[in-house]
Amino acid sequence: MDRIVVRADEPIGRISPRVYGHFAEHLGRCCYDGLWDGTAFRQDVVAALRRLPVPLLRWPGGCYADHYHWRDGIGPPEDRPRRLGMSCGLQVEDDNSLGTHEFLELCRDLGAEAYVAGNVGSGTPQELADWLEYCNSDLDTQLTRERKANGRARPFGVRLWGVGNENWGCGGNFDPVGYAREYSRFATMLHHVDPSAELVVCGHDDAWNALLLETLSKRAHLADHLSIHRYWSGGGPETAFSDDQYYALLDEAAQTEAFIERTAQIISETLPVGRRVGIALDEWGVWHPEARTWPPRAGVKPRLPVTYEQAGTLRDALAAGIALEGFHRQARVLTMANLAQTVNVLHAVVMTDGARMWCTPTYWTLHLHKPHMGATALAVEASDSVTATASRTDGGMAVTVINRDLHRDAEVCVETHAPSLTSVRARLLTAPEANASNSGDEPECVRPTELAAVSDGGGVWRLDLPRHSLATLVLSP
Ligand code: AHR
Repeated sequence: MDRIVVRADEPIGRISPRVYGHFAEHLGRCCYDGLWDGTAFRQDVVAALRRLPVPLLRWPGGCYADHYHWRDGIGPPEDRPRRLGMSCGLQVEDDNSLGTHEFLELCRDLGAEAYVAGNVGSGTPQELADWLEYCNSDLDTQLTRERKANGRARPFGVRLWGVGNENWGCGGNFDPVGYAREYSRFATMLHHVDPSAELVVCGHDDAWNALLLETLSKRAHLADHLSIHRYWSGGGPETAFSDDQYYALLDEAAQTEAFIERTAQIISETLPVGRRVGIALDEWGVWHPEARTWPPRAGVKPRLPVTYEQAGTLRDALAAGIALEGFHRQARVLTMANLAQTVNVLHAVVMTDGARMWCTPTYWTLHLHKPHMGATALAVEASDSVTATASRTDGGMAVTVINRDLHRDAEVCVETHAPSLTSVRARLLTAPEANASNSGDEPECVRPTELAAVSDGGGVWRLDLPRHSLATLVLSP
């Protein structure tokens, strides 16, 4: 019997809905084709995302952001310039039909908060400050008149602004000191325009983060969040993986938490006492070797030309669940996270093929985590192979349990220490094989089913968790 003990008396902190954020870049078929058909958003995709839900959406990049000039994407579509869009070595012809107004309307439709990534690599502080003014100012200026002429009278009120993306690499190949100086200029000007904007400074690895924050230290009030990215790349092929590769990917997902912890430590050691900068893990997920050209390759050839599209399997969905366990444990320091990416690209939650659309297994992992959004994370005791996360609200408690074992079914006992919560709905995500996925032909191969959970009447619940599975129990009075 595997035992899960929920420490109902040990609250960790509130799980911000921003931790369940998403990321849509003008890359491959994510924005164009996946979300946007050239003149409108795909309503089947929007409906699926609304049901997920999507509380936060980052756009337009990624690496694309540091080439993007926002003025290209406003005004009558027929007048918008056709530009060379660039991200990750991919050059695309961008007709700019999906611009600021379209993106912000999408956010409104989805009920998502917008997170805009600004251009530092090829842009100027003035250009980014103008974009902020265009979106958020309620003064009568040339820019706000232009916004009104383009159909939006009231300010959009976009709070989250990224000052560049991966500026240690595609965003300009800066060193941390050089970027810190640039960041100070940009952030100062942005705060003049809208002091309530929350600014995200671009982080990287431990060494970059330490030197960046040390350099910024006296001006740390200019940053609200530090962006870090984590892609899991060591799990071998996307579907034909071995047992060892299955566990390697799950381990990599679990290690994401250690990266967050180290980053939090660097922030607290480097910044003046009392200055809080949150961690924005604004790109995370699995990146299989078929969908990239860089190592490790594990003998797997990339699918050329690389489109950043990959099969999303149950293994990826479990890896996402494992990462979320860590995100909840780090609720005090992790202020946002954005799965990369929303549709068709990398660790997508939705895929499309012409008129067909389907949800990936990872979509269902996130769907089963819905009760945790905005709830208070609780400490949990678990074993190595059957792990869990728990949270509570005024209305009850949710516990998500993962059986990581590839071959052993588990009998699990969940001790909630909440005997007053006597009603349960339990749902299970699994499939006969860990490499199962959904497709246009079989869109429902992997999706949640109801699961029996039996109570002892005193807050202890018993359930059978098949090998490689994830389940959420929602408990109420
Ligand atoms: O998500 C794909 C790319 O990965 C992004 O454009 C970039 O920020 C990262 O390197």
